[in-house]
Amino acid sequence: MFVQFRLFTQSQLNAVIEITKRNLTERYNDFVFLDIQKSWPSAFILGMSDQTVAGFICGGISGDKEARILMLAVDTPFRNNGIGTGLISLFEQEALKVKANKIKLEVRTDNQEAIAFYRNHGYSTSNLLPSYYNDGSDAYTMEKTLAQT
Ligand SMILES: CC(C)(COP(=O)(O)OP(=O)(O)OC[C@H]1O[C@@H](n2cnc3c(N)ncnc32)[C@H](O)[C@@H]1OP(=O)(O)O)[C@@H](O)C(=O)NCCC(=O)NCCS
Repeated sequence: MFVQFRLFTQSQLNAVIEITKRNLTERYNDFVFLDIQKSWPSAFILGMSDQTVAGFICGGISGDKEARILMLAVDTPFRNNGIGTGLISLFEQEALKVKANKIKLEVRTDNQEAIAFYRNHGYSTSNLLPSYYNDGSDAYTMEKTLAQT
């Protein structure tokens, strides 16, 4: 599979919304994606398989230099091809560029695949957040300390 990574632009908004619907359980208004892009455009990254948006990552950065992965999803037919790894690696590079010292994220406690994926990429579980999601599910906070060189 030929995979390329590129920055999100508004023309891919519908594709990203559809990937979110298929792969993530929370629902977001369209403007949320554009707000995230506006706040940190270089960290809103798409994984492309030919001309198809196969997955994406986006996040935010806070004043105290803590980056946060807000969404990461790869469509099922494209999984296990290294797209998720590419997206999280590029996101980490962007976080390093803005001198972030940590990346945090929330993940459903029952999402074993994602938890294993993040662990393999150096993230560890820190807190349990009871009833974090709209449907009442719990979340773990996971985080990774970035080594600035
Ligand atoms: C978690 C998720 C983003 C991973 O995406 P992915 O594209 O399948 O990720 P990768 O292909 O990089 O890695 C998946 C596995 O494939 C393997 N892999 C990586 N590159 C590979 C390649 N080139 N060829 C074959 N396998 C590969 C990896 O070993 C990895 O195994 P690991 O998880 O044990 O490390 C994806 O499963 C997903 O979208 N899940 C649903 C949404 C979700 O839960 N998001 C997180 C919410 S917090």
